Amino acid sequence: MSSTDTTRSLQAVGGTSAADDATGEKLFNQLIADDSRIEPTDWMPAAYRKTLTRQVSQHAHSEIIGMQPEANWISRAPSLKRKAILMAKVQDEAGHGLYLYSAAETLGTPRDELVQQLLDGTAKYSSIFNYPARTWADIGAIGWLVDGAAICNQVPLCRASYAPYGRAMVRICKEESFHQRQGWEILYELSHGTPEQKQMAQEAINRFYGPALQMFGPPDDDSPNSQQSMAWNIKRFSNDELRQRFVDMTVPQAEALGLQFEDPDLKWNEERGHYDFGELDWDEFKAVIKGEGPCNTQRMQRRRQAHEDGAWVREAARAYAEKYHGTDSALTA
Ligand SMILES: [Fe+2]
Ligand SMILES: [Fe+2]
Repeated sequence: MSSTDTTRSLQAVGGTSAADDATGEKLFNQLIADDSRIEPTDWMPAAYRKTLTRQVSQHAHSEIIGMQPEANWISRAPSLKRKAILMAKVQDEAGHGLYLYSAAETLGTPRDELVQQLLDGTAKYSSIFNYPARTWADIGAIGWLVDGAAICNQVPLCRASYAPYGRAMVRICKEESFHQRQGWEILYELSHGTPEQKQMAQEAINRFYGPALQMFGPPDDDSPNSQQSMAWNIKRFSNDELRQRFVDMTVPQAEALGLQFEDPDLKWNEERGHYDFGELDWDEFKAVIKGEGPCNTQRMQRRRQAHEDGAWVREAARAYAEKYHGTDSALTA
């Protein structure tokens, strides 16, 4: 047993005195310095707990709201096979939301409180889901670019210092790879189809290229919380580093599709060994976050309605838990 493990097991039986806090903080700092994992029963700074509760719950909200643009296309998918694939993908997103709410709850805030923050509008979700899916090609662009950007963001989160978050991300990333691949394949079929289909694919990419790049968050010099998250080993790479990685990865994929990104500044920079790309529309990004995107109102209305419609399920589960387990804690959302 290492000295860190010994301190950790002593800590687990400890109380909450100032001396315990000092020991706990020392152990926490040591675990972070060793690039090790923090478990729910470990001591952690209040700010670390708060940051993670916000990040993990908002990640969960994004997965749940993210079901909406694609669910709109399940009944309009062009074949039974496409319908089955899209249904599986949307169900995966529901599952991601559930793993992440479970991970967030281990930090001490009950799930119903986290869900209420979304319904009240006090918690955010990813701004990308406030854009509509106008055509079937948008389903391809969402899978390829939106899920693709999510993978770039989330693979490093598998090593996040908070263990339940990292563990949830491992499975999520495996499923996201399938999502990205199915989107690319939809676009491949369209871009090798009729001229109209190819045009539809190109227009979908034109709509989603900018918003997908904005998914990495504001530029590094306008991202005040990033440094602390990196010091805590929650975040491993900066917003701009991840954005660059995504552009470098997707440009050759777009070439394979025979489609272009609508960015006159996009070109290979031999010296840097990366693609240069144009400035993004950060005013639009801020407006969408503030609630002024094309679908913000609709997304929240639909989520509130779904929550109300599900009240009887929560009620029934609560009654079942009380009857058979003498507790209502089996269901908190
Ligand atoms: Fe997901
Ligand atoms: Fe996904």
